[in-house]
Order: sequence, then C-alpha cells, then structure tokens
Amino acid sequence: MKLIVVGSANMDMVMTTERVPEAGETLHGTGFFLSPGGKGANQAVAGAKMGAPTWLLGKVGDDIFGQSISANLARHGVSTDYLTAEPGVSSGVAAITVCGGNNRIILAGGANDKVTPEYVDGFREEILSASAVMLQLEIPLPAVYRAVELAKGRTPVFLNPAPAVPIDDSVLDGVDYFTPNEIEARFYTGIQIRGTEEAFAALDRLRAKGIRFPLITLGDKGVAYFNGSRNVHKMSLPAEVVDTTAAGDTFSGTLAAMIVAGKPMDEAVDIAQRAAAIAVTRPGAQDSIPVLAEVLGENPPRG
Ligand code: RIB
Repeated sequence: MKLIVVGSANMDMVMTTERVPEAGETLHGTGFFLSPGGKGANQAVAGAKMGAPTWLLGKVGDDIFGQSISANLARHGVSTDYLTAEPGVSSGVAAITVCGGNNRIILAGGANDKVTPEYVDGFREEILSASAVMLQLEIPLPAVYRAVELAKGRTPVFLNPAPAVPIDDSVLDGVDYFTPNEIEARFYTGIQIRGTEEAFAALDRLRAKGIRFPLITLGDKGVAYFNGSRNVHKMSLPAEVVDTTAAGDTFSGTLAAMIVAGKPMDEAVDIAQRAAAIAVTRPGAQDSIPVLAEVLGENPPRG
C-alpha cells in the first residue's frame, strides 16, 4: 500500500482575532502561532495518521521553515524521500487569520511554485506503482496535469481542487475522486448549492465531466457524494468549532487512506467526516488531525 501526495507544503502563520480589520485599520489580535501546513502536506499527514504509508512529493525552501516542515512531516509518519529543498528559494507561507472559528488564507507559494512536470516525471515509476495519487491546486497546474496524465487509468487519482482554478475537462476525465467544497463545486459546475437538490445536480454535472466519484463537502451541512450507485447526502457531526483550518484536508486525506485500505465508499466517507469533525475542535493544521484509533473511538479525544 502506498499513497503519494503530489502537492504543497507551507508554514502557516496564524493570527487569531475577534474581528477582521477593515482596509487601513490596525487591530490587536488575540494570539499568534506558527504551524506547519499546506494542503498537500496536511492531506499527507491525514493519510499517514489514518494508517496509509504516505509520501509527500513536492518542494520546500532551503530555509528554517523548510527544515521545520520536513521534520513535522517525518514526526507524523510521512516519508520525505520525494521532498526536495530548493536552493535559494523560501518555503511556501500561508498568512492565516482565524476569526470565530473561520479562517481566511493568503498564500505565498515560494518553493511550491518550483514543482514542475519534469520534477514529477522524475518519480514516474513511483507514481505508476502507487496505490493512489492525491493532488491539490497549490502547485503549478502543469505539474498537476503531468501527475494525472501519468496516473490516468493506472493509479487511482484523488484531486482536492483547492484553491479553485480552471482545469481542462480532458484532465478532469482522469480524476477518480474529486473533493471540492461548496464554493469550489460552484466554480466547476456553475451551480450554487443551497440544499440537497442543487448538491446532487452538481454531482451529476461533475460526473458528466468524467469524474468517477465526486464528493462535495458542505461544511456544517455535511457532504454530498456519488457512491458508485447513487447520490448520497450525509449530515455533518456536531462539533465545537475552534479552527476550521485543514478540515477539508483531513476529510480528503482520510478518504484516500480509507479507500486505499479497501473500505467501501460509504464507510470511507463516514470515517473521513468523523476525522474532520475532530480536527475542527483544535487549532492549527497538521497537529489538529486525529489518528485513526481516536476517530474510531479507541482512544479518548485529546484535550
Ligand atoms: O487547507 C488549509 C491549508 O491551506 C493551510 O494549512 C494553508 O497552508 C493553506 O495551504
């Protein structure tokens, strides 16, 4: 079993605040912390914490953030064998404001922007022999396209289309599992999701593009997905929300790990939802993601 995540790694610089400042306004925040993040790295950590042997294929800078990001990945059980420190470039950074549990994120790609199709090609054999490849959109699109092109029809492809950018339909046709949130789903389908009916219409439209299993995460309204036979809507679990950062990453990474482990779709979605519901009760990204035993109720939740 081998899950390869081709994607970003960032250092998150997180400021908590009681309200968001207006343009030109200076405001005292309520706290600050650094936390390794990046959608690719977060999803890799989720995969590893759920028991899948996981590799992150990507780049960090040759700076102190890069060292810290790599060390944190290793601490959580993610292999960094396919992660390169790019000379003379800073690591990816995310400026995150957390207000009332919700986050606002601005990215500076740094070394993530140096992930090229040629770099992905260097891991061709590894991608072809993997159990699944997982992607997001925080690295350059040509690198994403190359990974899909290599894997298409051979290795199952998971794509979490965040942040949303236009993608060729010919590439979407190579995607097996597609996990947009409702804003991203609107971007790719033109459908504003107000309820189950629109969510199912969006699923149908995504399937018409060739995606085999679209899953739309709907925040506190749950998840809508195609399970191979029919569209399903599952409500979310109640949670005391502290910080939603990496909730979607926890869902996507857990889903991939469960599918790779051979779980049927409905069970995989159930476990992914439960993992995300725990992640939102804790601050930060990778450190907020639970391990599988905790999700399954085998350990009491931490603090
Ligand atoms: O999905 C959350 C992540 O988005 C953060 O960790 C931040 O780095 C951005 O990539």
